[in-house]
Amino acid sequence: MRLRLAILASGRGTNLQALIDAQEKGEIPTEIAVVISDNPKALALERAHKHQIPAITLVRHDFSTRELYEQKILDLINEYSCDLICLAGFMRILSPYFISNSQVKIINIHPSLLPAFPGLDAQQQALDYGVKFSGCTVHFVDEGMDSGPIISQAVVPVLADDTEETLSLRILAEEHRIYPEAVKLIAEDRIEVKGRKTIVGARIARP
Ligand code: GAR
Repeated sequence: MRLRLAILASGRGTNLQALIDAQEKGEIPTEIAVVISDNPKALALERAHKHQIPAITLVRHDFSTRELYEQKILDLINEYSCDLICLAGFMRILSPYFISNSQVKIINIHPSLLPAFPGLDAQQQALDYGVKFSGCTVHFVDEGMDSGPIISQAVVPVLADDTEETLSLRILAEEHRIYPEAVKLIAEDRIEVKGRKTIVGARIARP
């Protein structure tokens, strides 16, 4: 059975595109059921349209409270019978209300080697700190900031003449590789979470 994904994206949507491409090539057993954006101008919405994926914009200021806004997102995710929420450049922090009321797991891709450089501008944070390696992380979302159990990571070198743009592009290429891989592991039910750790194994036998 195909895992039904809800993708939440705010911007250009290249990670969404990587998931669409992997799905269309038959590399991941998924069905991207809906793309939701908080930004009506997000290129991610156009990418979804191009592939006949339902794409919905929900603007925060159209809702009187954050809770009502987040509940609307949760309602859509239920309506589209999604099994997993993938944050793909969704630049809005989801509140504990959203996390605790979501009936499905939530994963995120972040452009640093967590727990280093959570939050905004992770690539610039890495450059400012002077690290020699950075990378990206796919993790489950919990109530903290980029703090849930890590599913996978990829490392890239930071070069002496890197700018935020060059480093971001090097990291992005790895994001596009590891995000579909992580989704595949979840779709195949091969990830077990034990406390902070995720264990990847053969398909888990569940009662
Ligand atoms: C990606 O680099 C993603 O890791 C980052 O936003 C970019 C979205 O690009 N996410 C975060 O920083 C989340 N804290 P995309 O719209 O082209 O996928």
